[in-house]
Amino acid sequence: MATMTSLIGLINKIQRACTVLGDHGGEGLSLWEALPSVAVVGGQSSGKSSVLESVVGRDFLPRGSGIVTRRPLVLQLHKTEEGTHEYAEFLHIPRRRFTDFAAVRKEIADETDRITGKTKQISNIPIHLSIYSPNVVNLTLIDLPGLTKVAVEGQQESIVQDIENMVRSYVEKPNCIILAISPANQDIATSDAIKIAREVDPSGERTFGVVTKLDLMDKGTNAVDVLEGRQYRLQHPWVGIVNRSQADINRNVDMIAARRKEREYFETSPEYGHLAHKMGSEYLAKLLSQHLEQVIRQKIPSIIALINKTIDELNAELDRIGRPIAVDSGAQLYTILEMCRAFDKVFREHLD
Ligand code: GDP
Ligand code: NA
Ligand code: MG
Repeated sequence: MATMTSLIGLINKIQRACTVLGDHGGEGLSLWEALPSVAVVGGQSSGKSSVLESVVGRDFLPRGSGIVTRRPLVLQLHKTEEGTHEYAEFLHIPRRRFTDFAAVRKEIADETDRITGKTKQISNIPIHLSIYSPNVVNLTLIDLPGLTKVAVEGQQESIVQDIENMVRSYVEKPNCIILAISPANQDIATSDAIKIAREVDPSGERTFGVVTKLDLMDKGTNAVDVLEGRQYRLQHPWVGIVNRSQADINRNVDMIAARRKEREYFETSPEYGHLAHKMGSEYLAKLLSQHLEQVIRQKIPSIIALINKTIDELNAELDRIGRPIAVDSGAQLYTILEMCRAFDKVFREHLD
């Protein structure tokens, strides 16, 4: 019987393999689409980057007011053994291990600019980043540009719709788990995240409602009704979050201190005390990981079918090219074929 950790670790490997497959035509894409991922959506400055960083436990994302995230970021977290050193790797710079997370942040910004220029334009082309660390749970997260209501100076009028379309292209996939971020200091009824989540997932079965900025609510008001699911009903429980404020960021409050502060906030809160064990960034990460495991188990038979289809197609292509393999492309196909066979074997073992 596989543990949750090994199972999701496998999925992360498959998704990397699919990225390789993707270079060889459409087949990689369909494999990729068979697997669940978690997309973070919400309005600009709703706290998306802050939530992502909290789930990861590292400061590495470009943040700021305005449109900072201008390309999708596909982030794979891989849990490694205790005591190992953590590092990050970009798909576009294979074999370079980043251990300085400030350098990761800079590379995300630079790689964004390489496609879009130093503009306020957006691009659909994702950046792929993997983080290997003993301090994360296994998850694949997708950070998306924030939904916005108006174009600003330097942007085309179409940007509002462009961002919405880009976000929708991720969250409309039935196997996309939606992390819908809504700030507590705005009416939930006007939440951009809930609006798009409701549209693509009306039953709320794959949407996790996340309420940020609980600490910024007006005195005398609280989000208990939202957090207990009375205001907008989802199948999964709502999770309240307290991220670092801009003042905390300016004072360089680190992640560990931020989490401690968040825990203390809920434990000592007169409004949320009774919910404290179901609140916060760490609980959200746990909840997501458990849900992923469930979804992935249900999908293994169809993943096997897709891998076998890929094996058949690669075999046919190799026959067409002709064996023995002399050319580079044939050798590459052969490597992919071997990978597919290995994955197939591993998945079959996980069916037991
Ligand atoms: P994004 O644009 O959705 O990615 O939002 P960011 O994570 O960059 O956050 C935007 C601003 O809101 C930053 O100044 C954060 O410090 C602040 N912020 C985000 N979440 C919270 C929160 O829970 N409490 C407080 N006080 N500030 C927050
Ligand atoms: Na922002
Ligand atoms: Mg952001």
